[in-house]
Amino acid sequence: MYPAELTSPYLDRFSDAAAQRYKALGIERDDPDRPMKIAALNSEAFGAPVVLFCYLDRTMGPGQWGDAGMYLQTVMLLLRAEGLHSCPQVMWTMHRKTVSQIVEADDGLVLYCGIAVGFEKGGVPRPRTGRAVMTETVSFIGV
Ligand SMILES: Cc1cc2nc3c(=O)[nH]c(=O)nc-3n(C[C@H](O)[C@H](O)[C@H](O)COP(=O)(O)O)c2cc1C
Repeated sequence: MYPAELTSPYLDRFSDAAAQRYKALGIERDDPDRPMKIAALNSEAFGAPVVLFCYLDRTMGPGQWGDAGMYLQTVMLLLRAEGLHSCPQVMWTMHRKTVSQIVEADDGLVLYCGIAVGFEKGGVPRPRTGRAVMTETVSFIGV
């Protein structure tokens, strides 16, 4: 799902965000069953009744993968406009063969991610995961 050589600051941001998200769902960092519990939550699409699967043609390059990310962001915003919530899940790529069998995806397509879709359940803690400060990620250049 991620590059094997993922290093700082990306790896730190990734693991901090995961720790925050899963702690909110009752899974502590030092829980020995953490990987299994995370896999189970993801496989249940966090309780959402619908999962969209986004595929790209295998011939597409990095630019088109970027396009797909923008497209999915728009899908997620349109879902909000309909009162729905969603959560992109790259985890489905770990089960790409099974998913492709079920949705009967053509061999020429590669699974990008799933998006769990549903109405928000009240009472579930939903702290927003942290974000890197803007000065770390954006350079303003001007006179
Ligand atoms: C392309 C993409 C794939 C993701 N895959 C997963 C995933 O498999 N499992 C997961 O728990 N979160 C995954 N995330 C993170 C969450 O979907 C979500 O973006 C993150 O928790 C931030 O949510 P917030 O803005 O409500 O804090 C993914 C995010 C993106 C953009």
